[in-house]
Amino acid sequence: MGEKRVEITKVAVIGGGTMGSGIAEVCAKSGLDTIVMEPEAAAAEAAQARINGSMDKAVARGRLSEEDRANTGALLSYTTDINALSDRDLVIEAIVENEQIKLDLFKRLDEVTPEHCILASNTSSIPLINLGTATKRPERVLGLHFFNPATVQKLCEIVVSIATDDAVVVACEKFAQNTLGKETIRSKDRAGFIVNRLLVPYLLQAISLLDTGQVTAEDIDNGMMFGCAHPMGPLTLCDLIGLDTIKSVADVLYEEFKEPTYAPPPKLKRMVAAGHLGRKTGKGFYNY
Ligand code: NAI
Repeated sequence: MGEKRVEITKVAVIGGGTMGSGIAEVCAKSGLDTIVMEPEAAAAEAAQARINGSMDKAVARGRLSEEDRANTGALLSYTTDINALSDRDLVIEAIVENEQIKLDLFKRLDEVTPEHCILASNTSSIPLINLGTATKRPERVLGLHFFNPATVQKLCEIVVSIATDDAVVVACEKFAQNTLGKETIRSKDRAGFIVNRLLVPYLLQAISLLDTGQVTAEDIDNGMMFGCAHPMGPLTLCDLIGLDTIKSVADVLYEEFKEPTYAPPPKLKRMVAAGHLGRKTGKGFYNY
């Protein structure tokens, strides 16, 4: 509710995988007391190693001073105990994309975090209202959707559910912009939010165009790079994201809107079935 405290200085990130580790690093670099929570000690250690490795790289490339690295490291702590989150102002959940596991976690977070704490999710596809109604504070639940890698990509999509309080949205926008230095855009709680709703049909069209046999993969990619100044072509981008991920986002979009533009094309389905998932398997639209 609007009258509750919304100042954000103590944060927690749940899940220190690809996204959570980057989000935690961004928070600590911004001067925030940041707890990273993982369910198992080994995973917490892996999260710490991931963040330390990323900071080492930043130091080696001259993007982070030794002093800032030390200060950032001092603001980060790691836990497997959810009760450690009892004094947090904001929790950002970045665990596996599984609705039931996220619902269970939000229920527990509602029990252990203070009343004023905002509960955010980095989910790409789960309706925020579902996570909100797992708690007794749906007005303080919203999406903070960061992009990969979170330390580099400037955008944070703020996803507003039908129940999210406007004061909470404004507080999170200010936090993302002023504290984390991100650009924000505001989306309603609809599959794909803004970026994936535009990006995924474009990628699917590129795959369908390749499947006509009229054009090569290289010409599709060169067309968009040299004709539209994109940093990489759509098929190269598909290989980078992973074809399985693209298919599952397309499935979610199609399920929500039932529009042909979101339906995964046959070539994508066959490539996923064959295990040709892009960079991570060494073979996609190109060989790696
Ligand atoms: P990941 O698999 O790299 O990391 C997930 C982490 O969560 C793991 O370290 C795992 O140990 C931990 N975890 C699992 N269950 C947990 C629990 N119950 N409590 C605490 N920790 C738990 O996954 P990734 O790619 O980082 O994705 C996380 C979220 O971010 C998902 O919701 C995904 O949709 C979203 N996302 C992913 C992007 C990407 O490019 N990978 C981009 C934007 C959003």
